[in-house]
Amino acid sequence: MKKLEVGILGATGMVGQRFVSLLEHHPWFELRWLAASERSAGKTYAEACNWRLREVLPKAVRELPVHECKPRGAPQLLFSSLDSKVAGVVEKEFAEAGHVVVSNSSNYRMEPDVPLLIPDVNPDHLALVRLQRKQCGWKGMIVTNPNCTTVGLVMSLVPLERSFGLEKVLMTSMQAVSGAGYPGIPTLDILGNVVPFIGGEEEKVERETRKLLGKMVDGHVKMGDFLVSAHCNRVLVEDGHTETISVSLKSKATIPGLLEAWRAYRSLPQERDLPSAPKHPIIVREERDRPQPKFDLNVEHGMATVVGRVRECPVLQYKYVALSHNTIRGAAGAALLNAELMKSEGYLD
Ligand SMILES: NC(=O)c1ccc[n+]([C@@H]2O[C@H](COP(=O)([O-])OP(=O)(O)OC[C@H]3O[C@@H](n4cnc5c(N)ncnc54)[C@H](OP(=O)(O)O)[C@@H]3O)[C@@H](O)[C@H]2O)c1
Repeated sequence: MKKLEVGILGATGMVGQRFVSLLEHHPWFELRWLAASERSAGKTYAEACNWRLREVLPKAVRELPVHECKPRGAPQLLFSSLDSKVAGVVEKEFAEAGHVVVSNSSNYRMEPDVPLLIPDVNPDHLALVRLQRKQCGWKGMIVTNPNCTTVGLVMSLVPLERSFGLEKVLMTSMQAVSGAGYPGIPTLDILGNVVPFIGGEEEKVERETRKLLGKMVDGHVKMGDFLVSAHCNRVLVEDGHTETISVSLKSKATIPGLLEAWRAYRSLPQERDLPSAPKHPIIVREERDRPQPKFDLNVEHGMATVVGRVRECPVLQYKYVALSHNTIRGAAGAALLNAELMKSEGYLD
């Protein structure tokens, strides 16, 4: 199969670097075009980017030029990891010019005609692009993935929602510093510290969770009818968001029932064997002190959600811990899986 040429908007940032790394050996997509701010445009990628990953910067990308974020010369499919201050204007310009923008940024996630997708959860929401094209009149499209904290929460909730129904969800996060981009939080603000505020994060988690677990009704998403409350904190961990979660369910459940629902969960990415899909989307750890980012982060190449410590909750019904990789499953890997779903559905032909 001839590979599809792709590009990255915001290629030099934390998530942009993940895209570069994950695309290196991708069987369907070939990275040919990079763009970032005026500060980086005109340089080679190696000059423009402060490479922060342990994986080696791929040779084929080192000497690629970094362009300004203008559609001329860009491939049809673009992954976007732009700063949200500019993503709104830039992504729209590319969609208007006929490009398919698969975005990490928050700007369009809650628009009623923009799919907010996790292919393991709500692949049918991709149909919203028909409404988008009709309403916006552009040839291209914008498809989004959720916030990095929302992904782990929703992946752990979806088997419970399908088996028992959700009534109430309470989530407290311990979020890695890489989630704030590069260079991120000043050392003096985070060293030996916990920062109990991440601007806009709690609101994003609360509304995105209800959209992702909402149902398609007459071509629109009907938001999930459960309550979500999020507490978001920044902690001194490099990668990986850990979340403690309490839930109330609509129908009667047991702890073995919850464990079975997580272990058995499979969906469309596994059925179609999409290249970035984890074989086991949810991994259950039985040890009393797991999951931990130090040990469990990279299971299934950073694409699985790891859960553990399930027990009864005296306030809601059950409580547990979930862990998810914020720049892979929560960002670049999520967008790649979205594009793979789109290709398998014929949207990129
Ligand atoms: N980090 C995560 O875990 C995570 C997870 C999910 C979603 N996200 C979202 O993904 C996006 C990128 O996050 P990040 O952590 O990679 O941020 P980052 O490290 O700060 O990178 C931002 C990127 O945007 C580019 N940029 C900044 N200003 C620009 C402008 N005026 N015009 C064009 N490009 C511009 C930067 O280019 P220069 O290098 O040239 O400045 C860089 O490539 C954000 O919207 C973020 O909310 C991040």
